Amino acid sequence: TLVNLDGALVAPADAKVSVLDRGFLYGDSVYEVVRTYGGRPFELDAHLARLARSAERTGLAPRWDGPRTAREIARTLEAAQSLGAPPAPADAAPWNAGEWYVRVVMTRGAGEIGLDPALAVDPRAVVIVAPLAAPPARAYAEGVTVAIASVRRASPAAVDPAAKTGAHLSHVLAVREARAAGAHEALLLDDAGMVTEGSSSNVFAVVGGRLRTPPLAAGILEGVTRGVVLRLAREAGVPVEEAPLGVDALESAAEAFLTSTMREILPVVRVGARPIGTGRPGAVTERLHRAFRRLAG
Ligand code: PDD
Repeated sequence: TLVNLDGALVAPADAKVSVLDRGFLYGDSVYEVVRTYGGRPFELDAHLARLARSAERTGLAPRWDGPRTAREIARTLEAAQSLGAPPAPADAAPWNAGEWYVRVVMTRGAGEIGLDPALAVDPRAVVIVAPLAAPPARAYAEGVTVAIASVRRASPAAVDPAAKTGAHLSHVLAVREARAAGAHEALLLDDAGMVTEGSSSNVFAVVGGRLRTPPLAAGILEGVTRGVVLRLAREAGVPVEEAPLGVDALESAAEAFLTSTMREILPVVRVGARPIGTGRPGAVTERLHRAFRRLAG
């Protein structure tokens, strides 16, 4: 693992940020997670565009602009690659071996303690490059379980859900519940009880022969992978709808899957103890994952 802190390449143990930094005190930061294929970042422009939108939506002036961020990511990746990757875990999916995880964090900075963002000075810019840790091959072959979290997705009136911010406590608690229930991922509902998204993923289901995913208006992150999958589905002639997804519809769906940078397209075969469809990864899911794999290389 290698860290770029404000432009200096350092080992994680030497990557130190003040306890007065608002990212630490308030989760007052925005971030992105990118991964590599063949050593190169995938969909980097889409991630940088979303980072800029997250900063705009939260009124955070990042230390680096988009082009500088892209250069710093490239530099950090090159340095990490020249140090070499540790051997991939034996159960890794073959296409993930030797690949990298890239996390970009922009904080509003430090300053006198207080919620007022005008107190912030010296925003921090961080790039963390680490060997990729993605779901094992078995998760794709057999599918995973999700749990409905009792924690609700922050309402759009609180913090714009489309902004990818460091304020993640509700998602941390949702994952805590899911793990206690032995589930891979937690799904968060909105106040009306509709499915919004996973703690770090978007959700799709095959309902009535159509591929359905909650609309952006459901108060979700506009996942980069979600966008790629919607495009691939349309290209493949799979009917798609961005429409509200109830828990009932999910539980009675023929198929379901999660999308995220780290997961690509990961089949969901159970909601709690209830099997989805046949309880095996579905044909539409597998077809889209093959198309995704061809695209990502
Ligand atoms: N999370 N929804 C939420 C709340 C997320 O945090 C993420 C990504 C997604 C999927 O977005 P994308 O396809 O762009 O990765 C949806 C990242 C990976 C993370 O926090 O690790």
